[in-house]
Amino acid sequence: MARLNVNGKAVDVDAEGDTPLLWVLREQLGLTGTKYGCGIAECGACTVLIDGVAERSCKVRLSNVEAGAKIVTIEGLSPTATHIVQKAWAELDVPQCGYCQSGMIMAAAALIAAKPKPSDADIDEAMTNLCRCGTYNRVRAAIKLAASGRPA
Ligand code: FES
Ligand code: FES
Repeated sequence: MARLNVNGKAVDVDAEGDTPLLWVLREQLGLTGTKYGCGIAECGACTVLIDGVAERSCKVRLSNVEAGAKIVTIEGLSPTATHIVQKAWAELDVPQCGYCQSGMIMAAAALIAAKPKPSDADIDEAMTNLCRCGTYNRVRAAIKLAASGRPA
């Protein structure tokens, strides 16, 4: 049994310590917005925030989540889906199939929080998520729109 703080709520989960956080979120807590892609920390589909840092939840073991760490999933980024990154995403119609997009948005949210005016190099460094639909140009444009503070 472990106690986690997920999207601002304390939750108790019953899982082995070596269970990937991704499965705890999806299977135990029903937070299926966080996606499974590769399972080997390569694709970024499973990205969540842990204390504000973008982390690939498939590689984070339950036992490695520090007590009191604040985990945020796409469901908790904004109660009304109006985080500035989500607004920019919507304005520019970034998603195609959508599968990678919650991870993309979480990585972008962490980037904007850490660097409100990210350079292209900053975006390159932070946005290593993979998208089979090739939305990379719109992802970059949306991050710049969010950074401008002007999404509709
Ligand atoms: S599923 Fe975690 S990085 Fe791909
Ligand atoms: S929008 Fe389809 S994988 Fe990225």
